[in-house]
Amino acid sequence: MSADELIRRAADVRAVALDDVRGAGSLDGLHDAERRAKAALADVKKGIKDVPGDQRAGVGQALGAAEAAVRDAAEARRSDLEAAARSGAAERERLDLSSLGRDYRRGHLHPVTQTWRALEDIFVGLGYSVFYGPEVEDDWHNFEALNFPPGHPARAMQDTLYVDLGEPEQVMLRTHTSPMQIRLMETQPLPIYAVIPGRTFRRDTMDARHSPVFHQIECLVIDKGITLGHLFGTIDVFFRALFGDVEARFLPSFFPFTEPSAELATSCPFCHKAGCRVCSQTGWIELGGCGMVDPNVFAACGIDSEEYSGFAFGFGIDRIPLLVNQVPDLKTLLWDNDVRFLEQL
Ligand code: PHE
Repeated sequence: MSADELIRRAADVRAVALDDVRGAGSLDGLHDAERRAKAALADVKKGIKDVPGDQRAGVGQALGAAEAAVRDAAEARRSDLEAAARSGAAERERLDLSSLGRDYRRGHLHPVTQTWRALEDIFVGLGYSVFYGPEVEDDWHNFEALNFPPGHPARAMQDTLYVDLGEPEQVMLRTHTSPMQIRLMETQPLPIYAVIPGRTFRRDTMDARHSPVFHQIECLVIDKGITLGHLFGTIDVFFRALFGDVEARFLPSFFPFTEPSAELATSCPFCHKAGCRVCSQTGWIELGGCGMVDPNVFAACGIDSEEYSGFAFGFGIDRIPLLVNQVPDLKTLLWDNDVRFLEQL
């Protein structure tokens, strides 16, 4: 091909490429148009090697000019396309300050949390301190120091969920909040006036009254001269603060870490002992256990039981909103998370 022919082809390619580039409808399209122009000009350039040396400069100039023209046109097209994209985005993302907001609903604390906090408030009002403890416990705090010797049948009653850590059956999800009695006696200066609400775990199958995860609140008092009278009086004040005009009932019972021990019930706040559905016609509602701190527990914690005495009680938190709201099923309260139900409480 002669130099003249190559120069003419360069002009043709230039004209087609400029149309192509100027007509690109998008940045991607422009990119493709530029690639086509480069390929076509490269194709023309290949012919230079057949042109006599003294005529090559002319062809080179024509190709260089075509390249520059295409580059300039592409540059101009690119800034047009970018400006259009920017103004489109500005239009799309414009905040319409006059449009109405979407309605939002304000929730409330879960009924168990409400009860948990109400219980804390009552005890704080009585001058107690609130503590929280670990949910994963060791055998010493959950059982041994609480006077459950290895192999004692009272351990079996707790349906423990063990954690596969260290020696077998040495690490567990706490079966009650009582291990915090030990932790406080080990670490706090005396006297102790403490409440410990928290999550507790047992190997129970979920049903209307059981859940493998539940909540308890523990109370521990250690001071000089504490008697059963202080325990009874404290529970009485506490029940009245929680339920209004009720009576507390104590039935002899057994816990390894208290002596004497009692089961704790309140007269039914709905029927005042007449019998109703809430209290299963008994007039009383079982809440938990209590007693005087056993001297063996004091010994395990290095406290002199000749000098100090104390009481403890513990009970389930979940029962309370269940009863107060007459919810038939623990699962509905704790696990279903159905807002249509919870928003009524
Ligand atoms: N920890 C006992 C339980 O879970 C309750 C309890 C607490 C009993 C404190 C006596 C004193 O059943």
